[in-house]
Amino acid sequence: MTNAQRPLLKRLFIETHGCQMNVYDSERMRDVLAPLGYAPVGAPDDADLIILNTCHIRERATEKVYSELGRLRDLKARRAEAGVKTTVVVAGCVAQAEGEEIMRRAPVVDLVVGPQAYHKLPELIARVARATGERVAADFTPDEKFDALPAPKAEGVTAFLSVQEGCDKFCTFCVVPYTRGAEYSRPLEKVLAEARALAAQGVRELTLLGQNVNAWHGATGEGEATFADLLRALAKVEGIARLRYTTSHPVEMSDDLVALHGEEGKLMPFLHLPVQSGSSRILKAMNRKHTAEDYVAVIARLRAARPDIALSTDFIVGFPGETEKDFEATLALVREVGFASAYSFKYSRRPGTPAAAMQGQVDDEVASDRLARLHALLGEQQRAFNAAQISRTLPVLVAGKGRMPGQMHGRSPYLQSVHFDGAPDLVGRTIDVRISGSTQNSLAGALVSAERVSA
Ligand code: SAH
Ligand code: SF4
Ligand code: F3S
Repeated sequence: MTNAQRPLLKRLFIETHGCQMNVYDSERMRDVLAPLGYAPVGAPDDADLIILNTCHIRERATEKVYSELGRLRDLKARRAEAGVKTTVVVAGCVAQAEGEEIMRRAPVVDLVVGPQAYHKLPELIARVARATGERVAADFTPDEKFDALPAPKAEGVTAFLSVQEGCDKFCTFCVVPYTRGAEYSRPLEKVLAEARALAAQGVRELTLLGQNVNAWHGATGEGEATFADLLRALAKVEGIARLRYTTSHPVEMSDDLVALHGEEGKLMPFLHLPVQSGSSRILKAMNRKHTAEDYVAVIARLRAARPDIALSTDFIVGFPGETEKDFEATLALVREVGFASAYSFKYSRRPGTPAAAMQGQVDDEVASDRLARLHALLGEQQRAFNAAQISRTLPVLVAGKGRMPGQMHGRSPYLQSVHFDGAPDLVGRTIDVRISGSTQNSLAGALVSAERVSA
C-alpha cells in the first residue's frame, strides 16, 4: 500500500470522569469512531480529537471540567500555531446538564454531546469539520443510542455491560435523574447478544451496569422478566464464569434477587448497595424510600441467602439538617453491618435539586470532621476484611501481569485485587490462590497447585 492509499490515521484522546457508566460509554465512543480512522492515544498533546467524558455528581467534578478546558485552550492554540486542528468535545453528564452554557463559557469547545447521542458522534464531528449545523446534542432516546452503537470490543477478561440507564428515584441531593433521564431497561435479547459477543472475545466476568441496575425489567416470550431472570439467563451464556452488578438501590432488592445470591454460584458474593445515611430521619429528607432499619433487614436477608456475602456502600455526610446524633446513627450502622469497602462523600449542593434549597445546610468544617471520622472507621473495616482473608484459599480470576516480573494479578470473589507469582497463560482462568498478605487495597498470595486450575 502506498502512503496515498493508506487511510489517514487520526488520533483520539478520551478522558473519563465519573462512574462506570461513563467508562462504558467512553469505550462505545472509541468504537463508534474507529471506522472513521480514529486511533486512541494515551495523552491529549498530539490528539486531533479530544473528548472529555464528564461527571456532574458533585460540584468539584463539574469544576474539574472547566479547569481541564482551560488547559486544552492553550494546547489547541499551540497546535493551531503549528498548523494542526484540534477538535474538543464535551460529553457526559456536564454536557447534558449545562449544554449551551459550556459553549458560552469555554469557546475552545467545538461540540457538546449528551450521553444519549453518542451514536451520532461521527455525523456531529463531520458537521463541526464543515462548521455547519448542530453543536449541542442532548436529547433522551436511550433505545436509539444502544441500537446504533457498534457491538463492544472486549479488552481483557472482565467487561462492563450496560443494561439500564437513567433514574426515576429522585433522591433530593442527586442530579442523575436530570442528566441521565428516565429509567430505561435494555431488552433481554439485546443484553444476551452483547454478553455472547463479549464471551466470544474472551470475557469471563461481566459487571452489569445501571444507575438502578436492580430495577431492570424486561419482556420475554413468556411474559415479564425480572432482574433475577436476566442474571439467570446470563449465567447460562457459554464462557461467562462470573457475574456482578452495580449500582443497586435497597428498595429494589426483591426476594427472587436475594434468593438468587444463594442459588447461582456465578453470582459473586459481593454487593455494592448504597445506603447514604444511617439516620432514618435524614434518609426521609433524602427521599431514599427506605429507613436505616429497612437497610439492615435487606442485609440480613442477603446474609441468610449467602452467608459469606461482602458488602460495599456509599455515604453522604453533612446532608442539610444532619445533626451529630444523625451522624452517630451512621457510625452505628457501619458498626452493625460491617463493610468490606465503601465510598463516603461530603454533601455537595447541586443547583436545581430539592436539597439545595433546604434549610440547615451544614457548615463545611463540621462536614469535613464527620467525613474524616467516617473514613477512619470504614478504613479500619476494610483493612480488617482484607486481613481476614489471610490463610484462606480464594478462587481468583486471572486478569493479567502484575507489577513485578513473574507476577500475575486477578480478582477474588469479593472484588479484591490479588497478586501472586504465575505464568501469563493463566489469564482468563480461575485458579486457587492461598492468601498470605493484605493491605487496605489488595491481597498477595501463592498459587495453590497448577493441577487444581479450573477452566
Ligand atoms: N445510582 C447510584 C449512584 C449515584 S451517584 C445510586 O443510587 O447509588 C454515586 C454516589 O454519589 C451516590 O451513591 C451518593 O453517595 C453520591 N452523591 C450523589 N449526589 C451527591 C451530592 N449531591 N453530594 C455528595 N455526594 C453525592
Ligand atoms: Fe441518584 Fe438516588 Fe437515582 Fe441513585 S437512586 S441515581 S442517588 S436519584
Ligand atoms: Fe457522574 Fe453522570 Fe455517573 S453525574 S456519577 S457520570 S451518571
